[in-house]
Amino acid sequence: MTQHRPSLAWITGASTGIGRAVARRLAAQGWTVIASARGAEGLEKLAAETPNVVPWRLDVTDPEACARAVAGIEEAHGPIELAILNAGTHQPMGAADYDPAVAARVMGLNYQGTANSLAPVMAAMRKRGRGRIGLVASVAGYRGLPTAAAYAPSKAAVIALAESLAPELAADGVGLSVINPGFVKTPLTDRNDFPMPFLIEAEAAARHIVDGLDKGRFEIVFPWPMLAVFAIAQVLPRRWFLFLVRKGIVKR
Ligand SMILES: NC(=O)c1ccc[n+]([C@@H]2O[C@H](COP(=O)([O-])OP(=O)(O)OC[C@H]3O[C@@H](n4cnc5c(N)ncnc54)[C@H](OP(=O)(O)O)[C@@H]3O)[C@@H](O)[C@H]2O)c1
Repeated sequence: MTQHRPSLAWITGASTGIGRAVARRLAAQGWTVIASARGAEGLEKLAAETPNVVPWRLDVTDPEACARAVAGIEEAHGPIELAILNAGTHQPMGAADYDPAVAARVMGLNYQGTANSLAPVMAAMRKRGRGRIGLVASVAGYRGLPTAAAYAPSKAAVIALAESLAPELAADGVGLSVINPGFVKTPLTDRNDFPMPFLIEAEAAARHIVDGLDKGRFEIVFPWPMLAVFAIAQVLPRRWFLFLVRKGIVKR
């Protein structure tokens, strides 16, 4: 990284998919990567295959465990210079199957889990006056879409969280980025049974993420065709956007 010389990085949701690919990319660049997830098996496999990766089991929905993890990681390995808070899930839900318990579960991981892991690492970085944090949201956070009644609000909340904190953190010497991928081939999207336009591999996503963080970008959006689609979708008046969705011209 140009902004931060390879040192200590922490990634949540690192056992599969995007988090795993980012962990491998950073480790190859010489970072020591603390890889967190709930399951031991994926983490152990990643660490066995990748020099410089240290498994650290954590459920990000537990705020106290997140505080203990950051303290424990820093005590054992030194200051975290880069944190990529990526743990998340998706569950399709629309009007017919709307269930507030599903909304709470998805929000509890995608938003509250991000907040839980953010709080202790942000406090530690602010104290030191340095570091960079990437919050993984999604292009689905830009506009509500059919079947995304649980997912889109959770990712919109992460984008708003990043926007709310970035100016203050910049004044404290801490960089904050929000990472908004389009479709990436991972165990999460392998469950999807609908067409996924502009689908990319996890390794390509990791390249975009690491490059964007390296350049100190606030907003890291990829791949570019998805960026173009959402750039247009974002500036469309809501009633036009909803009209296009109702006509089936805009789909999830
Ligand atoms: N794939 C896409 O197309 C896409 C697009 C936009 C945004 N995203 C976002 O990118 C992130 C990663 O997605 P992915 O596609 O790589 O998914 P994935 O392959 O399903 O990976 C999810 C990771 O999160 C971990 N995790 C799940 N619950 C957790 C918890 N409570 N505490 C800690 N770790 C937990 C999982 O391991 P354990 O189950 O062992 O804990 C796993 O390591 C998510 O935030 C997702 O919303 C993905």
